[in-house]
Amino acid sequence: MSTQLTEPEQRTDESTTEQPAVEEGEESEGTTIPEWATESEESPGADDDESVRITVFRYDPEVEGKQEPHFDDFYVPWEQGMTVLDALMYARDQFDPSLTFRHSCRQAICGSDALFINGRQRLGCQTQIADLDTPVRIEPLPHREVEKDLVVDMQHFYEQMDAVDPYFRTEATEGGEEQRQSRENREKIKMSTRCIWCGACYSSCNIAAGDNEYLGPAAINMAYRFVMDEREEETIKQDRLEIIEQEHGVWRCQTQFSCTEVCPKDIPLTEHIQELKREAVKKNLKFW
Ligand code: FES
Repeated sequence: MSTQLTEPEQRTDESTTEQPAVEEGEESEGTTIPEWATESEESPGADDDESVRITVFRYDPEVEGKQEPHFDDFYVPWEQGMTVLDALMYARDQFDPSLTFRHSCRQAICGSDALFINGRQRLGCQTQIADLDTPVRIEPLPHREVEKDLVVDMQHFYEQMDAVDPYFRTEATEGGEEQRQSRENREKIKMSTRCIWCGACYSSCNIAAGDNEYLGPAAINMAYRFVMDEREEETIKQDRLEIIEQEHGVWRCQTQFSCTEVCPKDIPLTEHIQELKREAVKKNLKFW
């Protein structure tokens, strides 16, 4: 059994990028302690006066009593530079070893810790606690089946990525010759190559939420990365365009920009989708 959350029921918190209020002169040894970090309430972690409350989604289909989705509060000692992932790891290590979430690189590279933090898709390791309203509400990515706590099933997302054949294909290297790319072309595709397959954009997309077959912004961006690469031959480009112009491809995008807004790597996803729409139109133009 699994559960799946939709955004409306999750968006009970307003997210903000503003710094929380800080009392004037409230500094110690060059470090500014936000006012909110000094709450002290009864909880497993509230044993000092510099803690931050995180409210974490919990669900475990295999454990009696945890099968009903709910939230648990943890009070975590705050320190300068603490990320949401740091707070989660502290809560797991100090209070509840069963708290489950994905992470690996801790430097916004592997894409495994995309979460729904204060009502917005973000990477846990890239998100500073000091940049958030508290308590910090941490949920799994919306529109994906929840397997346990903050872990969602990413299989379908990976299948959509695979569907656009996300590998460099060219016949020109068969002779073993180096194939050079112009600076201009590298510049054009530069942003699209930054994708870390975190799924934040896909989770934020209303179209993907309603159409499970929609390729989604990440996969289309991956197609863009290769369609625009001058080192692939025209015939291969045409094959790629055929994939993205199918019924559940680029034409499903309604230019809502939610994917662009949440992308942790600042990829202009919506722009790339629109460019591919133009390429698809050009491909089908006929002059008699
Ligand atoms: Fe790898 Fe955050 S842990 S992106």
